[in-house]
Amino acid sequence: MDKSAKFQNRHFVVVRRFNKPAGGDMGNLNDGLFLVKCRDDGRYYIEKRLMPRDIMNGHALYEYQALKHVIKHPNILSVVACDLDKRRAYGSIWMEYCSLGALDMVIARYRERRAYIPEPFIWSVFGAISVALCYLYTGVDVELEVGNRQTIPPVRGSSSWDKVYHRDIKPGNIFLTEYSTSGEVYPKPILGDFGCAALQSDINRGRRGIAASRFSPAFEPPENRSGTGAYKATSDIYQLGLVIHCMARNLVVPDQNARGDRPVGGPYTSELNYLVRKCIDYDYSRRPHPSELPHLIDVASQRADSQIRRSLAPLPRWALP
Ligand SMILES: Nc1ncnc2c1ncn2[C@@H]1O[C@H](COP(=O)(O)OP(=O)(O)O)[C@@H](O)[C@H]1O
Ligand SMILES: [Mg+2]
Repeated sequence: MDKSAKFQNRHFVVVRRFNKPAGGDMGNLNDGLFLVKCRDDGRYYIEKRLMPRDIMNGHALYEYQALKHVIKHPNILSVVACDLDKRRAYGSIWMEYCSLGALDMVIARYRERRAYIPEPFIWSVFGAISVALCYLYTGVDVELEVGNRQTIPPVRGSSSWDKVYHRDIKPGNIFLTEYSTSGEVYPKPILGDFGCAALQSDINRGRRGIAASRFSPAFEPPENRSGTGAYKATSDIYQLGLVIHCMARNLVVPDQNARGDRPVGGPYTSELNYLVRKCIDYDYSRRPHPSELPHLIDVASQRADSQIRRSLAPLPRWALP
């Protein structure tokens, strides 16, 4: 059956269907991704068609609502529209298009070439996603707090902010796009795929338990494996630490044996090794909190800069689509 007619939204025209990108995880949780053009502003967006079962069980609507809650952050994927028909079990979400794909593809390209991802790019992803997580937990955009300071400060969140747990941070869910301003060397990292996310208020009401989550097992935090559903503020930090470990070691999934004291390995600075080790500590209470991680990364990356004497060259052409 041709379902495309059902999905026509008068604001968007389908340009093409996305095929599974080389090395990309392409998510197994959606029913197709399409590049679409908006009739109103002439810009490109992505349409994500949702699985019928997710529409029926409320998962799909949740993803949209979680994204809507956090819509205003430069490192978080913005969502522009949603159409769900629960009765007929079809629906789509329309969102910002990240033209440079996802981080898992960059890792795959470096892996093919047996090359190391440059440390400054790793810090830029680490920093950007930490800023996104800080926002999800505190409601504060730390970049706006910098002012005249030399470094990003730790922040204090407001108690009224409804925290968002992403719960599925992995390379395939970190997207890359071009900065709208010139002068940036690397692509801009954007946290996407809120299909496993949970709002604190819903967890408190028992509406969004761990059972509702479909973690990628390789990135699952140890506290979650206890079966108690004890997802913590630092559980997302653990997953971010594993992403950085995968970038540094060109891995699709974390290598349990290569973590140890030097989770990112020899070619990288001790500052990067130290901070990633803190993030992937088995004890969730010893990991940095999302409200302080951007600060810690800023300080450590400035220190690392002096060691690696940053020569900032753009990523090679073969590393990106
Ligand atoms: N807005 C987007 N811009 C660019 N690529 C995207 C976008 N959304 C998804 N993708 C690509 O599709 C893949 C799967 O999308 P995702 O939202 O993670 O779906 P799923 O819930 O099925 O995992 C991503 O890893 C990425 O390669
Ligand atoms: Mg995904």
